[in-house]
Amino acid sequence: MIESPIPLESLRRSSGTFVDAVGLPPSVYSDADFHAFEMEAVFGSEWLCVGRQEQIPDAGDYLSVMRVGEPLLVVRTSNGSIHVMSAVCQHRGMCVTANTNRTDDDMLDPPDLESGSTRTFRCPYHFWVYDLEGQLLGAPEMAKTTGFEMADVQLPALAVELWQGFIFANFDVDATPLAPRLAKLDDALTNYDVESLVTVDPLTIPDVPFNWKIMVENFMEMYHNSRLHHGIHDFAPSSGAWYADYEPGDAAMFGFNETLEPDGGFNPTFKALFPPLSGTTMEERQRVVFALVAPSLLMGFQSDSAFWFYVDPTGPTTHALSMAYIFPASTIELPDFAETLEAAIEGVSNFNRQDMPTNVATQAGMQSRYAPRGRYGWQEAVLPQFNSWLVERYEAASDKT
Ligand code: FES
Ligand SMILES: [Fe+2]
Repeated sequence: MIESPIPLESLRRSSGTFVDAVGLPPSVYSDADFHAFEMEAVFGSEWLCVGRQEQIPDAGDYLSVMRVGEPLLVVRTSNGSIHVMSAVCQHRGMCVTANTNRTDDDMLDPPDLESGSTRTFRCPYHFWVYDLEGQLLGAPEMAKTTGFEMADVQLPALAVELWQGFIFANFDVDATPLAPRLAKLDDALTNYDVESLVTVDPLTIPDVPFNWKIMVENFMEMYHNSRLHHGIHDFAPSSGAWYADYEPGDAAMFGFNETLEPDGGFNPTFKALFPPLSGTTMEERQRVVFALVAPSLLMGFQSDSAFWFYVDPTGPTTHALSMAYIFPASTIELPDFAETLEAAIEGVSNFNRQDMPTNVATQAGMQSRYAPRGRYGWQEAVLPQFNSWLVERYEAASDKT
C-alpha cells in the first residue's frame, strides 16, 4: 500500500500547461517520505533504460548496472534475445558476477562498473552458478537439504523492451508496453535512424548532489539557454524553442530549438565537428531536438550526433548521472574520431560548468522556507508536461491502495 505524503490535490496544481500550472510542491525535491513514494509510484512500474543493444552484441555479453539501488544484469542470451535480471543471489543475497577469476579487490567495486562476456554467472560467496537467463545450474553441498530443487531457483527477471536500440527494463512484469506510447517521438526522429547509432562508453558520475527531477528539468527546458548560457548558446536562442504536444498516455516529452545556421554545435566554434547525420533534412540540420523518455532517459539530437543521459535517483537529494554520445558507425571509424570527440566533450563541459552549480543552488533554494511554487513561461512549456506525466503516476499508485 502506498500513499503520497503530499495530497494529490496539491500535486495536481502542477499538471496541465504553462498557462495555468504552478511548480511542484518544493518538498518533492527533498522529502524522504515523498522520495520513497516516488520510487515505488514511478520507478517501480515504469520503463528504465539500462543500456544500448550494441553494447552487448554477442551471446554471453553482459552489462551490470545499478537502477534505483537494484543491481541488475543485462545479458545477451544464447538465442540472441536480451534478458534483464536481478544480480542478487537467491541463496543469501550476495551479488553474482561473471564466472571469471575475480580478485578480492574487484569484489568491492560497485557492481555497475562491470561489463564483459561470460557463459555463466557465479556468486563469489558460496559458488552458486546461474545460466545466462538466471536459472540455477549448480549449488555445492545442497543435496542433503530437504526439498531443495535447483529447478526452483532463478534470478528474478524484469520485463524487457527494446526501442530504437535502447534497452528498457521494468520491475513490473505486467507493465503497459512502452513503444506504442512513443509513436510521436518515433515520427520526429525517423531520419535520425537512432536504432543504427553506436554509443561510446557512458561516463557515470555517481554522486550528483541534487534531486533527479532537477536534472531532468534543466536538460529539457530551453528558457535558460539564452540567459544562463548567453554567449555560448547564442547559435540556438531560446526564442527558437517549441515543444510537441503532450497527451496523457504519452511516454515521452520532446522539443526543438532552431539554430541560426545549419550544422550548429555545442562547442566554441558553434559548428558541428563531425559529418552531418546522413538521413536528415536541411531543416533538421538547423535545429536540435531534446527528448525525455520518462522518467529517466534524456536524449539530445544535433546535426552530427546525439547524446543520451541516464538519471538514476540514489536518494531524495542525489542521483547518479550517466552520459554518452552516440554516432553513426561511419563517424566512429573516422581516423581523427578520438581527438574530435575530446573537443566535443570539452565543448559540452562549458555548458555543464554553468548548469551543474545552477542545479546545486536550485536544490538548496527548493529546501528553503521561501521555496516557490512558481509560474512557467512558454519557453519551458515542457515542465508542466513532465509534471502531468508524474502526477498521472502519483495518482495511479494511490488508486491501487
Ligand atoms: S550468497 Fe550466493 S552462493 Fe551464497
Ligand atoms: Fe543548460
